Amino acid sequence: MTTPAILITGAAGRIGSLLRRELPGDAELAAFFGGPFRLKATDIVDPGPGEHADEVSTGDLADAAFVESLFADGGVAAVIHLAGYPREADWDVLLDANIRATINIWEAARRHGVDRVLYASSNHAIGFYPRSRKIDHRVTQRPDSRYGLTKVFGEELGFLYAHKFAIRSFSMRIGMFLPQPTSRRGLSNWLSLPDAVRLVKVGLTADYICETVYGVSNNARSFWDNSSAHRLGYRPQDDSEAFAHLFPGPDHPGDRWAEHFQGGPYVSNGLSAPDERLAALDRF
Ligand SMILES: NC(=O)c1ccc[n+]([C@@H]2O[C@H](COP(=O)([O-])OP(=O)(O)OC[C@H]3O[C@@H](n4cnc5c(N)ncnc54)[C@H](O)[C@@H]3O)[C@@H](O)[C@H]2O)c1
Repeated sequence: MTTPAILITGAAGRIGSLLRRELPGDAELAAFFGGPFRLKATDIVDPGPGEHADEVSTGDLADAAFVESLFADGGVAAVIHLAGYPREADWDVLLDANIRATINIWEAARRHGVDRVLYASSNHAIGFYPRSRKIDHRVTQRPDSRYGLTKVFGEELGFLYAHKFAIRSFSMRIGMFLPQPTSRRGLSNWLSLPDAVRLVKVGLTADYICETVYGVSNNARSFWDNSSAHRLGYRPQDDSEAFAHLFPGPDHPGDRWAEHFQGGPYVSNGLSAPDERLAALDRF
């Protein structure tokens, strides 16, 4: 029997590089898989050899034939789909990196009977909620940008394939993944590196069908009720409060809507709607 593999897309990126370092040799994951497991790392740029003996490939996930080749040995048990363009961009960029690539991953997962796909969604899928409102995983998405909308698409793709084709889906609405928050807004959406690993391990091992969780640490000022993640066993250990003294004032004085909404400057970027329309978002 083939040794089960975890496929990490976007493995040359910030989150992917961390997971390549942290997941191999993890005892809980080995127990979950009932023995050794492999790591496959792929990216459009060469992710390099890494510290562990993972299997590395380089290619564009918008190319369906390349994606198919990643699954060809039949051993992929789980995908951690991180690859994508991680900020606002023109449609042409986002269509390939965030839409086509994501479709190709889930389609290959379906053809090869993969158990689960963990998906790097974003806080920008719900960025049009006011900061004054603490939301959980059940709210309707409110994308604040083209980028955020591509993440809504990925979440809903996960829903479709979970219920129609029995591929477990775990969408992580990641906040600010950094060693420490770099803004006042980050005090509410920061995800520390160790907590990111904790959350991914929950996604790899928990029993669920289709879940949306917040990729956020145990921040006292969190925008989000992360009860879906906690129910599945996520126990974040870090709290941004330790950095609160660094950000006494607003991040964008003079930018009312960036300060008002959870998505921050993604909301005000290119904004042309009148104030009354934006204020109305607080009422429903
Ligand atoms: N870092 C954060 O704070 C944060 C917040 C919210 C969401 N996310 C999401 O998490 C994921 C990972 O974030 P990151 O910070 O590691 O980003 P990153 O930019 O460091 O890594 C993304 C990787 O995807 C690769 N990639 C892009 N297009 C590709 C394609 N067509 N085929 C194959 N590989 C491709 C890039 O080369 C890059 O190495 C992204 O999807 C991002 O949108 C990140």
